[in-house]
Amino acid sequence: MKGLVLAGGTATRLFPLTIVTNKHLLPIYDRPMIYYPIATLAGMGIREVMVIVGGKSVGEVVELLADGEHFGLDLTYRYQRGALGIAHAIGLARDFVGDDSFCCVLGDNVLLGEPLAETAQQFADGPCGAGTLLYEVADPERFGVAELDAQGNVVAFEEKPAKPKSNLIPIGVYFLRPDAFDFVDRLEPSSRGELEITDLLNHYLPGHLFAPRFEGLWTDAGTVTSLIRAAELAEQESRAGRLSAPPIRPDR
Ligand code: DAU
Repeated sequence: MKGLVLAGGTATRLFPLTIVTNKHLLPIYDRPMIYYPIATLAGMGIREVMVIVGGKSVGEVVELLADGEHFGLDLTYRYQRGALGIAHAIGLARDFVGDDSFCCVLGDNVLLGEPLAETAQQFADGPCGAGTLLYEVADPERFGVAELDAQGNVVAFEEKPAKPKSNLIPIGVYFLRPDAFDFVDRLEPSSRGELEITDLLNHYLPGHLFAPRFEGLWTDAGTVTSLIRAAELAEQESRAGRLSAPPIRPDR
């Protein structure tokens, strides 16, 4: 499998913190935000990763991650002009992905405490066309939200609904195959002008989406409150000895 980290976007919800810098460089406990999604992919045993960059301080993002050797990864980059949506950013990875399955992790998602190598393998070996991880939250209206049938199967996702149909959200981890690019090509922008990831996932519903629950600790870090929450979770994991030291480029 290949990997993709999305680190574009404009991060207006964090203004003024992100007026002159890239959100993914902000500190979460003892490391920059983007270290977390990078570690999530590395933990799946993925080695070849593309980082989609955009917005402010793109050069600094590249300087920090460099060729990825300090993460045990082989990193390449692609630039996203504008913030046209998560599905649009995924579409930029078509040539990089080629004929492989891939996992995309959002650059502001912090996953701790559950290694995902087996989950990634299950998707790669399984029959489903796409996958995501479900997580229960108290404020689902901020996210994509799952609608479930009587058996508890996901039948659809809605992006940031005013009246959420459940507390279960698809977190920012997406397992995809190359046919996803054809579906991305056919997506129409939403009312907020973005190609929505939930519209892409809905192509596989019902019935063809791999959607296990994530059993570890999760938060996004795209608002001030969630940024603080992410730092608290990371500190808690570090004190429990479950967070290894952040790698530093060997040439620094
Ligand atoms: O965190 C999980 C949630 O992430 C999901 O439940 C939602 O379905 C999904 O739409 C997304 O919601 P957000 O509103 O939190 O996404 P946001 O616009 O903050 O973008 C998340 C990351 O994706 C961000 O760190 C940068 C990257 N991104 C985003 C956009 C819109 C890009 O690289 N390019 C983009 O055009």
